[in-house]
Amino acid sequence: MSARKRFTQVAGITLAGAMSLGLAACSGGDGGSGGGDELATVGFVAVGPEGAWREANESNIQETFTKDAGFDLKFAPAANLDQKSQIDAFTSFVDEGVDVILLSATEGSGWEDSLARAQEAEIPVVLIDRGIEPDDTSLYATRIAPDNVEVSKAVADWAIGAFPDGANYFVLEGPAGVSVVNERNSGWDEVIDAESSFNKLGAQTANWSTEEAKSVFETVLKSNGNDVQLVFAQNDEMGIGAVQAVEEAGLTPGEDVKIATIDGTRGGLEALAAGDLSYVGEYNPIFGDIALEVVEKLVAGEEVESSILVDSAVFDSSEAAQEALDAGRPF
Ligand code: AHR
Repeated sequence: MSARKRFTQVAGITLAGAMSLGLAACSGGDGGSGGGDELATVGFVAVGPEGAWREANESNIQETFTKDAGFDLKFAPAANLDQKSQIDAFTSFVDEGVDVILLSATEGSGWEDSLARAQEAEIPVVLIDRGIEPDDTSLYATRIAPDNVEVSKAVADWAIGAFPDGANYFVLEGPAGVSVVNERNSGWDEVIDAESSFNKLGAQTANWSTEEAKSVFETVLKSNGNDVQLVFAQNDEMGIGAVQAVEEAGLTPGEDVKIATIDGTRGGLEALAAGDLSYVGEYNPIFGDIALEVVEKLVAGEEVESSILVDSAVFDSSEAAQEALDAGRPF
């Protein structure tokens, strides 16, 4: 896939310079590559099994940071999304003296001590997708992700266009405490709260899960006499769960209730093509190439921007979704 990316480079420093330096210069840690053609060691503190988006993202990172590309990638998925297992893996990578740490945090908060330890060991940390809260950019080298706030604003803009007279809506959120959930709420609320004709019936986490989202939204439909026109589901799997709840209630998804989601996974695009979903805002998970360029610069001791945004597409019709699927997408 051509990398659709917006990669802000520090002015005056070209990637070519970093590439020509190869991986000889390692940026920190005492266990990293000592020079020559040794591999640079990268510790990836990952989320692990969570859904289709995560699978695409973490597979892409592992397929990119290969030995042929000059890396020894040590993949450490969380145990059951548990932050303590991530902190333990993070600490092990610091103690081992890897050259760079990649971190996709299961929780936004609680990382200050770990990040300070990596900083003390002069090991740069790259946040992959998920941010930290509070967001202290001095504690990490950069964060690479699509823009959650902008993706959610675009969903809200679509909703306003789809419902000129407003709507009763419900929000299916990801897990509490996850940075992207707060960012998605922020973008959506900033736009939709300005529209008095939109009535928020409520919001509840369904933990990225189709089954949980179906259960949550079944209750929402019953408690509101089916008078719900719009769902903002913060990922595809939860949107598909809402579709199932709508159908179980004898209603027609896409007509009685419009459901908008974020991610752009195959399941999401197929549901949009079928008319079950009404809008899918892609949150592009394929940025291993961008991460590799960033890591090569960091290993070469160069600086990078504190935030690197990954461009994403918008799918706002069944035709657009079918066209993407026919072109071999998602991602
Ligand atoms: O952090 C990205 C989110 O995590 C995706 O939107 C969701 O599908 C994944 O589980």
